[in-house]
Amino acid sequence: MSEGTWRQAFDLLCDEQIGYGMSRKVFSSKILPDCVIKVEEAAGRFQNIVEWETWNRVKGTEHSRWFAACRWISPNGAILIMERTRPPAPGEFLDRMPAYLCDFKRTNYGMARAEGRHPGEPGKDWLVCHDYGTNLLFENGMTKRMHKAEWWDA
Ligand SMILES: Nc1ncnc2c1ncn2[C@@H]1O[C@H](COP(=O)(O)OP(=O)(O)O)[C@@H](O)[C@H]1O
Ligand SMILES: [Mg+2]
Repeated sequence: MSEGTWRQAFDLLCDEQIGYGMSRKVFSSKILPDCVIKVEEAAGRFQNIVEWETWNRVKGTEHSRWFAACRWISPNGAILIMERTRPPAPGEFLDRMPAYLCDFKRTNYGMARAEGRHPGEPGKDWLVCHDYGTNLLFENGMTKRMHKAEWWDA
């Protein structure tokens, strides 16, 4: 395939860049409007893979309620497709958050629909983390313990 064709395929999947962080660019998608595409090209950072592995541990448990869902990942982790959240209103940030979440920069969190989540209440949005590539599950495990969240803005 020509470079141009690869480019077109990428542009079909990735529309506008809606965010970026230390290691990733984040795109909206016309063909997957309820998802974001996270592109991680820097060597030696494995945040897409950590998010994917984390999601696969927490999904189906009560802890999934705190995480934006991962849908697909490319074979080496450069491209991760995740549920798209909406920005929380000021009053939607919570004082206490699970001990395995950290990095309480407001833009690392969003609101996701309850449908399909455990325990799930239809019509309700949950505060979820959508940047959990550096979460504390290794350190703290899937605990019910909560800690105070000091929310900040960049
Ligand atoms: N699932 C998502 N839904 C909506 N916006 C997102 C999502 N994931 C990331 N973003 C946006 O992209 C930005 C960068 O993504 P993030 O996961 O924080 O990358 P990094 O780990 O490099 O900081 C976020 O601050 C947020 O604005
Ligand atoms: Mg971030």
